[in-house]
Amino acid sequence: MDKFVINGGKRLKGRVAVSGAKNASLALMPATLLAGGTYRFSNTPRLRDVTTMSSLLESMGVVTNLTDSTLVIDSSNITSQEAPYAHVKKMRASIYVLGPLVARHGRAKVSLPGGCAWGPRPVNLHIEALRKLGAKIELKRGYILASAGRLKGARIHFDVSSVGATGNTLLAAVLAKGTTIIENAAIEPEITALADLLKQMGARIDGRGTTNLEIEGVDDLHPADTRTIPDRVEAATFLTAAAITGGSLTLDNVTPDHFAAVTAKLHDAGCRIAVSSDSVTVDAPDSLLPVDVTTAVYPGFPTDVQAQWIALMSVAKGSSVVTDTIYLDRFKHVPELIRLGADIRIKNNSAFITGGKPLTGTTVMSTDLRASASLILAGLVAEGTTEVLRVYHLDRGYETIEAKLRILGADINRSSGEEF
Ligand code: UD1
Repeated sequence: MDKFVINGGKRLKGRVAVSGAKNASLALMPATLLAGGTYRFSNTPRLRDVTTMSSLLESMGVVTNLTDSTLVIDSSNITSQEAPYAHVKKMRASIYVLGPLVARHGRAKVSLPGGCAWGPRPVNLHIEALRKLGAKIELKRGYILASAGRLKGARIHFDVSSVGATGNTLLAAVLAKGTTIIENAAIEPEITALADLLKQMGARIDGRGTTNLEIEGVDDLHPADTRTIPDRVEAATFLTAAAITGGSLTLDNVTPDHFAAVTAKLHDAGCRIAVSSDSVTVDAPDSLLPVDVTTAVYPGFPTDVQAQWIALMSVAKGSSVVTDTIYLDRFKHVPELIRLGADIRIKNNSAFITGGKPLTGTTVMSTDLRASASLILAGLVAEGTTEVLRVYHLDRGYETIEAKLRILGADINRSSGEEF
């Protein structure tokens, strides 16, 4: 297992490009199950989660090839409608194949994802929505067994805003007979990107980017090409990395509107921010101000940046509170940040941070993707050497993070093997 070795204390400075969005790719790729043929998705990030989704699709007869960030997918010959546990346990987003399989192929057998590092993550909304569209669904021996004739449009109201359930419902409803209304749909940019691809494939979707989607099912779809949107969480992570080191950084290939909630908070913390249509520059002060954050669905502050913000607030001068309303237990990074010297107390779903205590390097353990990012951030500013173990979590969602950080002047290296 690889680890990162970071010698802290270098201010990040310079310019890097952000990769395509992991969560967009994971929603776009299963759409290829809806119509046989060849698709080209440019700006696809080379990430472990993308490889996992490719392997899952390949196990169904799809052919995939990622070269120079263009992913070519040929879905002409689907031979299986099954997503086995071996794939789903690696990545919950595998559940996205459920909707398109049942809509176009009339059946699906998809392993239940189970929990994750920060608690239960149910898929009841995905299942209820597909049932409303007419799919017969049973849960047996850890699998979702779905079958259907042609799905029928329905009115679906989500009590909770869910990115995945909205995506899965869209992926099914586009081929259903009649009209589907999705109320309280997620409006995350990754869902809008999925709706855009589906429309290019011939789907009829109204209300793109709003919480009310109206889908008029069509008989057939056709393949289409698209450019994957930039990764807003990667962008936010690099901006926060620059801020924590008192650095100055320009990011290219970004859509600043997609992470406006984060840049607004960085501004409140004392950073200067300059934005163009596809780039953003952050200039951090020597001393950051404490800023409270509460996560919310888009366009609110993303839960996927909560861990990085807690790391940042650990070095700000003063007290702050970070509350996660999406995942109430998502604080696995906190004990590790405390090992680096941070002063953080957790109560319910809030972290109370007394910032400004010096961080000092030690060995810490990654537990999940964004938790790992927060440990890297802390390592960049901690005095001495920080070793971050189990960086395979990072490889799920950050393309060549250490190479990009090195371009910006960080002293970070990957080394293989772990000491216990
Ligand atoms: C997606 C993102 C993930 C992000 C999350 C919240 C992908 C691949 N992953 O995950 O990075 O952290 O959105 O922005 O895009 N819920 C239910 N029942 C369900 C589904 C969800 O109760 O059937 C709840 C969840 O427990 C959570 C909330 O809804 O409290 C939002 O989760 P959801 O938006 O579905 O997250 P994911 O799509 O899994």
